[in-house]
Amino acid sequence: MNWAELDTPALVVDEVRMERNLARVSSSLARAGVAVRPHWKTSKCLQVAQRQLALGAVGFTCSTPAEVLALGEAGIRGLLWAHLAVGEPKVAFAVNAVRRFGITLMVDSAAVAEPLDRALSEAGLVADVLLEVDTGLGRTGVDPSVAGAVAARLGSLTSLRLRGVMTHEGHLYGFGADRAGLDAAAVASAQSLVSVAEALRAERHAIDVVSVGSTPGLAAGPYVAGVTEARPGTYVFGDGNQVRLGSCGLDECALTVLARVVSTQREGTAIIDAGSKAMSSDAVSPSAGYGTVLDLDGHPIEGVSFPRANDEHGFLTGLGTGALAVGDLVRILPHHACATVTMWSRLAAVRPDGSYEWWPVVARH
Ligand SMILES: Cc1ncc(COP(=O)(O)O)c(C=O)c1O
Repeated sequence: MNWAELDTPALVVDEVRMERNLARVSSSLARAGVAVRPHWKTSKCLQVAQRQLALGAVGFTCSTPAEVLALGEAGIRGLLWAHLAVGEPKVAFAVNAVRRFGITLMVDSAAVAEPLDRALSEAGLVADVLLEVDTGLGRTGVDPSVAGAVAARLGSLTSLRLRGVMTHEGHLYGFGADRAGLDAAAVASAQSLVSVAEALRAERHAIDVVSVGSTPGLAAGPYVAGVTEARPGTYVFGDGNQVRLGSCGLDECALTVLARVVSTQREGTAIIDAGSKAMSSDAVSPSAGYGTVLDLDGHPIEGVSFPRANDEHGFLTGLGTGALAVGDLVRILPHHACATVTMWSRLAAVRPDGSYEWWPVVARH
C-alpha cells in the first residue's frame, strides 16, 4: 500500500482482515446453529453489510432510526431496532418502520410497550417484539425476576407480538484482563437469558428468539444451550478495547486512523493531524488516551503514546517521538471502533495489492 496516496487524517479499513473477522465468526456460529444478526452501529457502511449478508447474517441490529432507515431503504430486512422507542417522534418512527420494513421492536416495560401498541393498533399494524432482559449491565432491560410479569402484560396487548428475549451483556467490558472471569460472566448472562425464555415458555409465550449480543461475549455466550442468536457489532473491525479484553489480537484489528506528523517543536512530543474529532477516547482502561500508535505495518511504535488531543491535533508523547519527523505517517488503533467510525463520512477500504476504495459511512446522527 502506498499510504502517501491518502490525504490525512483518513479512516482506513484493512479489507482482508475485516473479511477474515466476519468469516471466522459467521462460520463458528453457523456450526453451532446460532443465527447472526450483527449490530450495524459499528460500521454504518452498506459495503460491510453486504459482506455480512453474503456470509449468512439473518438481518441487522440497529441502535438509531437513521440506521434502520439506511438499511431498510437499501432493501435489507430482518432489522431489529434494539433501542427503546420512547416519546412521540420515536413511536411514530417505529410505526412507520414496521409498515415499511417489518422491523422487530424491543421493549423492557409496559410503560414502553403500551404507547407503541396503541400507535400500531391505530395504524392497523402488528409488530414482533423482543423483551430486553438485564443480565448484568444495569442499563435498560427488565430484571429476570420480573420478566414474567412484564411478559404477561405484553401478552395482553393486541398489536405487539412477543417473539423472544434479548440481552446486551455490556458489563463484560468491565473485566479488564480477567479473561476467565469474562467468559464465565458471558456464560452466566446467556444462562440467565435462557432461564427467562424457559420460564416464559412455561407461561405459554411463544419464545422463538433468545438473543445475546456483544463482542467480548462472543467466544462463550452464544454457545450456551438454548441461545438462538448473536448480535456482535465490534467484531467486524476489532479495536484496542477488544485487544485489551483478549477478544482479538492486534493483528486481527482492521480499523486504523492514518495520520501525519505535522510538528515536532518540543522534545518528547510529536503533533499529528488527527485529534479528538478523528478518534474516540472511549477506552476500557481510563488512562489509555486516544489510541495505540502504530507504524505503517501495524506494529506498535515503542515509547510513543497518545495521551492528549485538541480538535484537529493529536499529542504524541514519549521518548520514541524522537524518531518521528515532520511528514512521517503513523496509524492509530482506536480504543473503540464504533465511536470512532461515526466521526467519519467515509472510510478507505485498502487491499493487499495496494488498491483502495472509498466506502461511505452513512446513518450518522
Ligand atoms: C443492544 C446491543 N446489542 C449488541 C451490541 C454489540 O456489542 P459489541 O459492540 O460489544 O459487539 C450492542 C453494543 O452496544 C448493543 O447495545
